[in-house]
Amino acid sequence: MIIEPRMRGFICLTSHPKGCEQNVKNQIEYIKSKGPIEGAKKVLVIGASTGFGLASRITSAFGSDAATIGVFFEKPSAEGKTATPGWYNSAAFESEAHKAGLYAKSINGDAFSNEVKREALDLIKADLGQVDLVIYSLASPVRTNPITGVTHRSVLKPIGQTYTNKTVDFHTGKVTEVSIAPANEEDIANTVEVMGGDDWSMWIEALKKENLLADGATTIAYSYIGPELTEAVYRKGTIGRAKDHLEATAFTIADSLKSIGGKAYVSVNKALVTQSSSAIPVVPLYISLLYKVMKEKGIHEGCIEQIQRLFKDRLYSGSEMLTDDKGRIRIDDWEMREDVQEEVAKLWLETTTETLPEIGDLEGYRNDFLNLFGFELEGIDYKAEANELVQVESIK
Ligand code: NAD
Ligand code: NA
Repeated sequence: MIIEPRMRGFICLTSHPKGCEQNVKNQIEYIKSKGPIEGAKKVLVIGASTGFGLASRITSAFGSDAATIGVFFEKPSAEGKTATPGWYNSAAFESEAHKAGLYAKSINGDAFSNEVKREALDLIKADLGQVDLVIYSLASPVRTNPITGVTHRSVLKPIGQTYTNKTVDFHTGKVTEVSIAPANEEDIANTVEVMGGDDWSMWIEALKKENLLADGATTIAYSYIGPELTEAVYRKGTIGRAKDHLEATAFTIADSLKSIGGKAYVSVNKALVTQSSSAIPVVPLYISLLYKVMKEKGIHEGCIEQIQRLFKDRLYSGSEMLTDDKGRIRIDDWEMREDVQEEVAKLWLETTTETLPEIGDLEGYRNDFLNLFGFELEGIDYKAEANELVQVESIK
């Protein structure tokens, strides 16, 4: 069948297998073009199918010849319905990894559950013995805590007072004002349950308990800070509380890993178009202005450029780890540059529906968004029949 983008709200209901494959191939080519990285050889990536997690898996495999196990939550195709992009991405990744002679297996299921953890532990035990790097890159709106059985839903709300600011519907380009009512204590607690460090810690403890972490193993999770403009809804909002918790958990995990000479880090990454970030109010408008400014300055990066730099210049640079005063790795350093932020703040004030196409990179935003689903990629014939039924044996 011929597959076209079908939008509903902030999501795209369809995805293109060939386009997703091209996305993965482009990222692999980028990593190969940057040369080898003296990195980990056995890597577990939790949240491996899209965004920063996929980029981390690709960087490990094609930068350091690593064996990778990927965990994610995606849907295969069904009668008349395409798979989710992360499914096609993972199918393409595995096929490319296998062609290159690299070990790659995946587990498709709820990473928050005991069952999926058990499956991953058994797979590591059987196939790799131990892992030396664990990437934690989950982004989810919901988590069932396996100990209490309670299902928590995260919210994206300010804390303390109603927040009002500009936002854009990036499909139509319409700029409006949005007001978001403040969270209550329960909202905050739920968001911390879902996006805080609890599950990361459970993964690491489970791995450690069964001696599946190699001596000197490293684990890393991803965080975000961002500018004053989005602070009320992001870093000082409910999601920010979860990130505070995640960042604090890095210290607890680091303590626990001392016995094996291991390390735990949080890396603060740049704002980028992913399925998760497009659902946050105000953030897409910020991103479209940020893209414009960073592209003009020649310092724009996507997920793969960010992670390549994280691995090459920070994690595996061979010199002492560069962190901020809170122990965090900062690869949002270019986004947070003073000249970049000053310009974005100035453009923010000038933003209206009429000016945005001129002063912002709405086109770049839309293009990146469609790319996430395998659309608008160069070199793909979208008029051709696409085989939507990709069955992948090693994705369980
Ligand atoms: P994403 O939506 O692209 O990726 C999320 C991944 O998690 C996917 O692989 C998905 O399959 C997986 N997943 C979700 N729920 C799952 C579950 N229950 N079980 C197993 N897998 C599950 O998101 P992303 O933007 O790459 O975010 C990854 C991390 O990076 C998050 O912690 C996010 O806060 C952080 N981050 C994002 C940005 C940004 O701008 N996008 C910036 C800085 C940091
Ligand atoms: Na990810």
